[in-house]
This record gives sequence, structure tokens and C-alpha cells, in this order.
Amino acid sequence: MKKIEAIIRPEKLNEVKAALERENHFSMSVMEIRGRGKQKGAMLTWRGTEYLMEMVPKVKIEMVVRDESAEKVVEIIRRSAYTGKIGDGKVFVLPIEEAVRVRTGERGEDAL
Ligand SMILES: Nc1ncnc2c1ncn2[C@@H]1O[C@H](COP(=O)(O)OP(=O)(O)OP(=O)(O)O)[C@@H](O)[C@H]1O
Ligand SMILES: [Mg+2]
Repeated sequence: MKKIEAIIRPEKLNEVKAALERENHFSMSVMEIRGRGKQKGAMLTWRGTEYLMEMVPKVKIEMVVRDESAEKVVEIIRRSAYTGKIGDGKVFVLPIEEAVRVRTGERGEDAL
């Protein structure tokens, strides 16, 4: 199993969700986070003055998927989260040791 952690633009969440759903990927956790990348934040203009927003609001999607699905899911997220501008986000893939479905006691990929 793999965990996919995707940090995306909040306004892209619906599009990413819909693209995943079209390929039958439904289970996910979503959280509102703040972060920064290489540009160390983002410049905002307010009343003619520029400010540095050090931590920019983003959305993090976490999905634990079968090994065989991981590459596909990463590609769906990449395509649907893309704008081509800085701050489009990042996707990390981690190995997952075990999963347990509380209701049934199923383990591993069967628990997903
Ligand atoms: N190396 C990292 N470790 C942890 N979180 C990261 C990392 N890089 C990016 N993030 C998270 O992803 C968000 C979006 O990053 P962002 O897309 O700006 O990355 P970038 O490397 O600056 O790429 P770009 O040049 O396209 O902006 C950040 O706000 C942060 O939450
Ligand atoms: Mg950036």
C-alpha cells in the first residue's frame, strides 16, 4: 500500500475530487493547511502596498491506495490540480505498513 499526500490549491479541490471519482477513487482525508514552497510564501497587494504572505492556505489530500493504483492516482491529481503557475502544489508518496478496517477486522489492501 502507498499513502499519497497531495498539497494543492484550495480552489482545485473540487476538480481533483471529481477527476478521482471518475476513476473510482473515493476514499480520502482532506485538511486545510498552510505552507510555503521555494518562493518562501506569496506576495499580496493590499491598498497599493505589497505584503509577503509567509504561509499560504493550501489543501492536503491524503489517500491510502493499493500499490498498483498509486502511479495512476498521482497522475490524476497532477493533471487535475495543474494551472502551470507557481504554487500548484506537490505530491508525496509514502509506503504504508498496515491498514485495519475497524468494522470488519479486514487487514491490508482488503481494508482499504
Ligand atoms: N519540500 C516540501 N516539504 C513539505 N511541504 C512542501 C514542500 N514543498 C512544498 N510543500 C507544500 O506544498 C505547498 C505548495 O508548494 P509549491 O507548489 O509552492 O512548491 P514549489 O516547490 O515552490 O513549486 P513552484 O515553484 O511550482 O511554486 C507549500 O505551501 C507547502 O505546503
Ligand atoms: Mg512555490
